[in-house]
Amino acid sequence: MKRIQRIGIFTGGGDAPGLNAVVRGVVKAARHTHHWEVFGFYDAFRGLVSGTGRWLKWDDVCGILTQGGTILGTTNRDNPFDYVTDHRYPDKRRDASGDVVRNYRKLKLDAIVAVGGDGTLQCAHQMSKLGLRLVGVPKTIDNDVRGTELTFGFNTAMNTATEAVDKLHTTAFSHHRVMLLEVMGRTAGWLALGAGVAGGGDVILIPEIPYRVEAVCAKIRDRVRQGKHFSIVVVSEGAKPVGGQVVVRQRVTGSPEAVRLGGISAVLAQQIEQQTGIETRYTILGHLQRGGSPSPFDRYLATEFATAAVELVAQGKFNRMICLRAGRLNSVPLSVPGSRPRIIDPHCHAIQLARSTGISFGDEKQLPAGGGD
Ligand code: F6P
Repeated sequence: MKRIQRIGIFTGGGDAPGLNAVVRGVVKAARHTHHWEVFGFYDAFRGLVSGTGRWLKWDDVCGILTQGGTILGTTNRDNPFDYVTDHRYPDKRRDASGDVVRNYRKLKLDAIVAVGGDGTLQCAHQMSKLGLRLVGVPKTIDNDVRGTELTFGFNTAMNTATEAVDKLHTTAFSHHRVMLLEVMGRTAGWLALGAGVAGGGDVILIPEIPYRVEAVCAKIRDRVRQGKHFSIVVVSEGAKPVGGQVVVRQRVTGSPEAVRLGGISAVLAQQIEQQTGIETRYTILGHLQRGGSPSPFDRYLATEFATAAVELVAQGKFNRMICLRAGRLNSVPLSVPGSRPRIIDPHCHAIQLARSTGISFGDEKQLPAGGGD
């Protein structure tokens, strides 16, 4: 194999806490251990198509471990194979993958580290078929990348969402209200489940378990019977009623992930208030979940992923994604993450443990025993 001298890196998709930690880890390990040069592309596939970015020096990545966001910039609406040059004209699209290949060659890159979620990694896999050598690093607050049991960014987002549940608890208690917290996650309920269990929610609604409003209200009434005059409902943006649809916030033409969800909590709050007569409020946590300094856990995981990605390149193991399996670092083919999102098995241990503590998923025929906090 030709000696590696130069690699590229880009961050793609919605940002997540820990992206800078990965950029830093890749640049430091590449330069320190292997004496490679690293080119950072700006704004995900935008930078790859236009060839814009810069050679990253040691100083460029000093002090960014604790910073949220990404110094390289990102976008979750560009696909090089269906490329919109100007988003004011979303119907004007072209295949810009040839530009990516040209820029890769022009910069004399030997490989690229692609840091992103399933959409980004799917495009990266397609680019590998054009002769580019890629290594993927799984990122997303949703934790839904197939092939890995954990993505960096999730832990920080779960902390943020849990803190929100904690804060809603006190105001829900004071006002004897039902409080809904809507969290992100697309078609996977990991964030809602994690924050709901960690925050002591009473009802958790996730995309993997369609709910009935009647069951949600039954749980709330049951709590009132037990003297608990408030309830906390953690609802995933992708949750939907039995036989019903998700609430779509926006459609983004040309994006690998065109449908953006959001707003289910507003619909549900109205239904709950009508059916129970209890004052009900909702909070959509939104992009707060993506911001802020990464947790120590995410900083560590991101650094581990970054250095493992550099090692894969050094070993000539291309077109694979770094992953965590049974708690250990590993890698899977880059075709795996793009196949479909990793969702929750409704019969898994985490769901069972939540049910065993009296948490409702809005699907019970009869109310479980226990009333929650
Ligand atoms: O995939 C990350 C994510 O934050 C999802 O949880 C959410 O549905 C989506 O991105 C939001 O995208 P946007 O930033 O375009 O609103």
